[in-house]
Amino acid sequence: MKSTNQALLVLMLATFGSALIRFQCSQLVVERLDPLVNPGMLPSTHVHQIVGGNSFNATMDPKKDMPAEDFSNYWTAVLYFRAKNGTFKRVPQTSQISGATAGITVYYMQDALYDTAQKSKVTAFKPGFRMFIGDVNARSKAEVTKYRQLTYTCMENTGTREPETLNFPQKPCKAGIMVNQRFPTCWDGKNLDSPDHMAHMAYPESGTFESGGPCPASHPVRTAQVLFEVVWDTSKFNNKADWPADGSQPFVWSFGDATGYANHADYVFGWKGDALQKILDTACVVNCAGAKTQNTAAMNKCAQKAVVNENIDGWLTELPGGHEVQYGPAPRAVKYVA
Ligand SMILES: *[C@@H]1O[C@H](CO)[C@@H](O)[C@H](O)[C@H]1NC(C)=O
Ligand SMILES: *[C@@H]1O[C@H](CO)[C@@H](O)[C@H](O)[C@H]1NC(C)=O
Repeated sequence: MKSTNQALLVLMLATFGSALIRFQCSQLVVERLDPLVNPGMLPSTHVHQIVGGNSFNATMDPKKDMPAEDFSNYWTAVLYFRAKNGTFKRVPQTSQISGATAGITVYYMQDALYDTAQKSKVTAFKPGFRMFIGDVNARSKAEVTKYRQLTYTCMENTGTREPETLNFPQKPCKAGIMVNQRFPTCWDGKNLDSPDHMAHMAYPESGTFESGGPCPASHPVRTAQVLFEVVWDTSKFNNKADWPADGSQPFVWSFGDATGYANHADYVFGWKGDALQKILDTACVVNCAGAKTQNTAAMNKCAQKAVVNENIDGWLTELPGGHEVQYGPAPRAVKYVA
């Protein structure tokens, strides 16, 4: 069982005017657990990488189990390489932040990432807030277009940021594959969660978060944009001789999606009280007072022993949980022959 135990590297980046918060968190654990979509299920359906507060567990009741240490959890599925011979290998990660080798870079933004002023007022989430974005069952572009901000970038080098695609890159990517998951930024202002974990959030009514588009009347509260950035180091799997004979790309999410359209992410808010609001409202550069609190290494050991005991590494004959590899919409499962 793998439980990645790496030192936490936190980097807060704030720009002029107000705060743009960016921090890297190493993996807490990689295992089949998902308190948001599969609460109480042990193991959950597919393998995730989880970062953030170490009170993460199969069940997280916002009233009972909120991290006492004021730390949110962020999680995504993990990527596997499927070799020509049909076996699977978990793809390692790298990071844009020096020193970090895995995990998720998390951003909280008031305006577009490239806008260094970050002047717009945004409302922070409240304790108990959680959300999900994406569709685990999406296998076509038509199904994923409404989540337009879940993207892949085939990195030629560490600076590559475009083009972004909604499906997996179709060719080898020299510097890896960057996955970006941007959550919607308009909140209904009332519900901390909803049955599908998405209905309490919406995209701007027109335009985009980046263009300052207004929130719809149903979801009037403009929140910070949460962005996850994960870089999968696919470079050691770039030998096309190991790729499927039909030339299709070899990467598959831990739940079997080989199209990439089922890109999704989970968020459980864990900032104490109004700590996040305070940081967002403070004009500060790097040494934000609240950010410093978040920066305390003692707050986050960033490693947890996996509770699900199964092999998720090595060359596996099947994806953990036995998911079939799916290359497109119906027929859902198509097996390729080496
Ligand atoms: C997770 O929940 C189990 C069962 O309730 C409990 O025994 C365990 O200590 C919890 N782990 C953490 C890290 O809170
Ligand atoms: C399958 O292919 C991978 C990659 O080439 C190789 O490392 C592994 O040993 C192979 N497994 C079997 C059972 O042939």
